Amino acid sequence: MAKIIKLNHVAIAIGDVNSALNFWQDALGLSVDHIEDVPSQKSEVVFMPVGETEVELVHPTSEDSGLARFVTEKGGGLHHLCFEVDDIDEMLDTLKEKGIRMIDEHAKELPGRKMAFIHPKSTGGVLVELYQIIK
Ligand code: CO
Repeated sequence: MAKIIKLNHVAIAIGDVNSALNFWQDALGLSVDHIEDVPSQKSEVVFMPVGETEVELVHPTSEDSGLARFVTEKGGGLHHLCFEVDDIDEMLDTLKEKGIRMIDEHAKELPGRKMAFIHPKSTGGVLVELYQIIK
């Protein structure tokens, strides 16, 4: 059976990268590891390691995404939690068997990882992402 390995990251939706960095980097003192453009998610992501996990600041790069609507409607905020699993395909099969509502029925492949989102309707209101790191 597939297992959760750790909390991979907590994602915060932001409208403006510089004002977010004023807090997360300059005031709180987290370091930016790198910034990545993720075209498949229509977002730009600021990766800030925190011990074994990360805070990711996610910024929409297009107006027509769920993330863009979230930022427009709520002005940003906690967007999702991401758990790293050892076998994402097996985990997705298990969740579907249990009737959990998915956003992604199948894992998407990105450089270095596979990922899928679980619908907040099935999680108590929090968008949950699953990751499997691909070596
Ligand atoms: Co994420």
